[in-house]
Amino acid sequence: MLIAQLTDLHIGAGRRLAYRKVDTAGALENAVAYVMSMEPRPDVVLFTGDIGDLGTPDEYALVAEILKDLTIPYFMVPGNHDCRAPLCAAFPDATPVASGQAFVNYVVDDFDLRLIALDTLEEGKPGGVLPTEQLDWLRDVLAEEDERDCLIFLHHPPILTGITHMDVQNLGAGADGLADIVRAHRDRIRAIICGHVHRPIHTIWAGVPLSIGPSVAHQVAFDLRVGGASAFVMEPPALHLHVWDADQKNLMTHMAYIDRHDGPHPFFDETGKLIV
Ligand SMILES: [Fe+2]
Ligand SMILES: [Fe+2]
Repeated sequence: MLIAQLTDLHIGAGRRLAYRKVDTAGALENAVAYVMSMEPRPDVVLFTGDIGDLGTPDEYALVAEILKDLTIPYFMVPGNHDCRAPLCAAFPDATPVASGQAFVNYVVDDFDLRLIALDTLEEGKPGGVLPTEQLDWLRDVLAEEDERDCLIFLHHPPILTGITHMDVQNLGAGADGLADIVRAHRDRIRAIICGHVHRPIHTIWAGVPLSIGPSVAHQVAFDLRVGGASAFVMEPPALHLHVWDADQKNLMTHMAYIDRHDGPHPFFDETGKLIV
């Protein structure tokens, strides 16, 4: 099973450049074209938040227009740049929440791996939260009689990355509660995947592999100095491809650059000799 993770789109209405610099709509078009050209093609795409930049209906209308070309199933969780109501209105199939539920938590049960969406958005705030109600929801989901392995996807990572201006807006309240739940089910939670930090980052957290995906648009500057500037860089747009091997019970994560680069070039000539 192949899971493509696209994150931190930051689409502006009218193709507005993000931070007066980044053509995020063009970046999303490139990302969609890349995913659709992949062989083998991913089974599902997970968008881990910051779909829009200001969270307006106009932004989501533009996202929907671009995603018309994405003809494989996809699902979304909101990030701090999103607003729940217009996001869910624009993408009901990609946010299949139970009716009457205030937060965008849900389970995708269509695949070998259960995909569990957690909504960490506190609207209007940069940092994330998981209120008690949502932790209870997750506890109930994991208590269900379903033996399948799981992947959790959410926007705000519950870790400190060393990039201080992002760490002050990570998952705050609820992170410890999440860790307790994850630790109790670490034998079948195969990964936790996040967005928000706009960099590829990997660690183990609560006994489980945790990764943060690179943005399909701009990246956060790699700066581990205490008090490092809040800044972005135009390092290459990229995505994570999570490969779930159900037989081996192994989840492997590849990072792939979206831009086209020179190559591929063969290592061997037509006679089978190594090119030197
Ligand atoms: Fe973002
Ligand atoms: Fe974010």
